[in-house]
Amino acid sequence: MTSLFTPYTLRSLTIPNRVWMAPMCQYSAEVFGPGAGVAHDWHFAHYAARATGGAGLILVEATAVSPQGRISPADLGLWNDTQVAALRRITSFLSERGTVPGIQLAHAGRKAATDRPWRGDGPVGPEEAWQVAGPSAVPYAEGYPVPDELTVEQIQQIVGQFADAARRALAAGFRVVEVHGAHGYLIHEFLSPLANRRTDRYGGSFENRARFALEVVDAVRGVWPQELPVFFRTSATDWTTENPEDGRDGWTAGDTVRLARELRGRGVDLMDVSTGGITSGIRIPTGPGYQVPFARRVRQEAGMPTAAVGLVTDPRQAEKILADGDADAVLLGRELLRDPHWPHRAAVEMGAAKRLPDQYAWAV
Ligand code: FNR
Repeated sequence: MTSLFTPYTLRSLTIPNRVWMAPMCQYSAEVFGPGAGVAHDWHFAHYAARATGGAGLILVEATAVSPQGRISPADLGLWNDTQVAALRRITSFLSERGTVPGIQLAHAGRKAATDRPWRGDGPVGPEEAWQVAGPSAVPYAEGYPVPDELTVEQIQQIVGQFADAARRALAAGFRVVEVHGAHGYLIHEFLSPLANRRTDRYGGSFENRARFALEVVDAVRGVWPQELPVFFRTSATDWTTENPEDGRDGWTAGDTVRLARELRGRGVDLMDVSTGGITSGIRIPTGPGYQVPFARRVRQEAGMPTAAVGLVTDPRQAEKILADGDADAVLLGRELLRDPHWPHRAAVEMGAAKRLPDQYAWAV
């Protein structure tokens, strides 16, 4: 028996295995006009292939709750009903294949309006740019725009946009919604003292910095059915305490455990544990499974189910993460870009039941 290919139930939802696809932006939607933020053939083919390859759950890429919240101008969005209809085509194929459709909802905050990575990653050119906003008027890094400091009223509007996007995600057929609280985007910007310099009730103490994250989660949980799970992606550390010589005072793994306990009490079902991204120039010691210890800590100390992510590339490595009790599932990113059939190959290697569709049975 493998753990990787054992089903996993959260609330009333059973996910057929524990090999899941991490959210990965495709930066491929149209930018202007009625096609803005709308999934099209590329997105369909991309997600359909990973479902055909046997992923138990697919988390569709960071999908913006508003045009201002897009990471790049070519991000998917869920601020209108055209976007809902296009995503429905994807969720219905995934569901038919037995892959659970999930989606990550995001607001990029001060890191919005950046370019597709293949065009150089920095702020987007003036023809596509918009004014970005964040908790404080502190830019992400040199060469990035100074964000507007959000007013309390604007913060409340964004909380409402998360709820509206979650409602649309449900209408589009998704069964898991993930709140993007990581990688230096808006929610993480509120959490981390490196981006949040506010002196009102959204800044300063841990409680105040966590307020926006908790309000978003409450709003999403409030519209998401009780029988379906909500995930939260965290950057478990800003890596400043792990690099004390860095001298900056960032978000820590201890903070994450505390946040996870709060989130568990508010109906979050699983924490997707990533790290980093709040600002440039911080050294991150990457290597195989380098973020797994953070998933383990959250699972053990907060009693919160976790998914581990980051340089998980080998079936035995993935199996060991589950067997050791570090996480309840693994999320694969780039490995699934390289090989959509990774889950099937892993099942064969581990002696589990095949995941190939009947149409491909000759290829076993
Ligand atoms: C990502 N990642 C990412 N993370 C996230 O939370 N939302 C997103 O939309 C994206 N987009 C994205 C695009 C691309 C092209 C890559 C390669 C990565 C991060 C991703 O989910 C994952 O955490 C990392 O890639 C680490 O896992 P792997 O790739 O080592 O398995």
